[in-house]
Amino acid sequence: MGKSTGYNILSYGDMVNNRQRMDPYARTLQQAVRRDSVVLDIGAGTGIFSLLACRFGAAEVHAVEPDASIDLARTMAAANGFADRIHFHQTLSTAITLPRPADVIVSDLRGVLPLFQHHIAAIADARSRLLAPGGVLIPARDQLWAALIDVPEVYRPYTEPWLSNTYALDLSPGQPLVVNTWRKLNAKADQLLVEPAHWATLDYQTIQRTDVSGELSWILERPGTAHGVLVWFDAELADGIGFSNRPGELELIYGQAFFPFQAPVRLEQGDHVAVALSATLVNDNYLWRWDTRARSGDHLKANFRQSTFYGTPVALEALKRRSADFVPSADTSAAIDRCVLSHIDGKTTLGTIAETLMEMFPERFHQHQDALNYSANLAEKYRPATNG
Ligand SMILES: C[S@@+](CC[C@H](N)C(=O)[O-])C[C@H]1O[C@@H](n2cnc3c(N)ncnc32)[C@H](O)[C@@H]1O
Repeated sequence: MGKSTGYNILSYGDMVNNRQRMDPYARTLQQAVRRDSVVLDIGAGTGIFSLLACRFGAAEVHAVEPDASIDLARTMAAANGFADRIHFHQTLSTAITLPRPADVIVSDLRGVLPLFQHHIAAIADARSRLLAPGGVLIPARDQLWAALIDVPEVYRPYTEPWLSNTYALDLSPGQPLVVNTWRKLNAKADQLLVEPAHWATLDYQTIQRTDVSGELSWILERPGTAHGVLVWFDAELADGIGFSNRPGELELIYGQAFFPFQAPVRLEQGDHVAVALSATLVNDNYLWRWDTRARSGDHLKANFRQSTFYGTPVALEALKRRSADFVPSADTSAAIDRCVLSHIDGKTTLGTIAETLMEMFPERFHQHQDALNYSANLAEKYRPATNG
């Protein structure tokens, strides 16, 4: 097996098994694919969309996937008699070109939310470089929604063990970090304290910006305790075909994202809550910010400023280390890597590289197997992509 991006076969299986997701994707593909279609499957995983595109008659399919799962996709293409129609590219979509532009581009690169790693940038890049004029993008749009939720049980880990623990220790320094950390939930409809408010539309036909920000506001129609904001997306794969992650709908693999409040807020009917929610892509991940004001008439009940920036102890230092004017220095592992890389020349065996490593870095490598593993991992990282 080749490179791995962290998904495993079980998680790929869960995606394929999720009928509420798969059925609308399959219907949209069937509607879009013609006999002479060129289809691009970005993030093919185990190749499910590529196989379906062939089943629906596509002439030429390009399956792009950096993960080692592409090996399984190849085997399954052969098992289904589609090997001659699917071209495999073990790399990122941003690194490929196509012999003919695609009539259909299909993908699902989302995490819990579509604001996930480089999803938006990858779609925008594929749309501008790889899609034929008038071609079809699947999904077409995602709509993002948010609501306040009343979830005392879910909130418990945000106070325990940090503010009260059975060992009489002061763990309170952990609490500011944990309340600035979001998590996945599968919330129930009756946990929503308010009607969902629309936060943003991601229109993949036009989207360029990877960052999203918007104001949310609610006037409470019933009393309750708000423990945070729940955010989810509804997918529009094509006009009239999609699925929803709204609590109360049939559960999907995505779930919803729960952004906790700094402290629970007791709210009465008529109270006003405003949340400024923003997601900014920093390096490979989104930095989330949620600033909340809750009012009862003139009385300010809550005024929170929260961000995932405060959710990691070393966020500021780590950011500084990624700025353009930072001068990096390296420890001895750089010399070790340099040594291995200088010997990966298409002629030298891993065994020989491992022996060289042991000679040059005897303090670091005591076992031949250790040096061999180290060299093999690095060689795997830089292995040329195998296409076709
Ligand atoms: C959620 S999985 C989807 C797998 C499969 N298409 C499905 O729907 O069941 C997303 C996959 O996209 C891949 N991926 C993410 N960004 C990519 C990109 N720019 N180009 C190609 N693959 C990408 C990841 O490695 C991952 O395997």
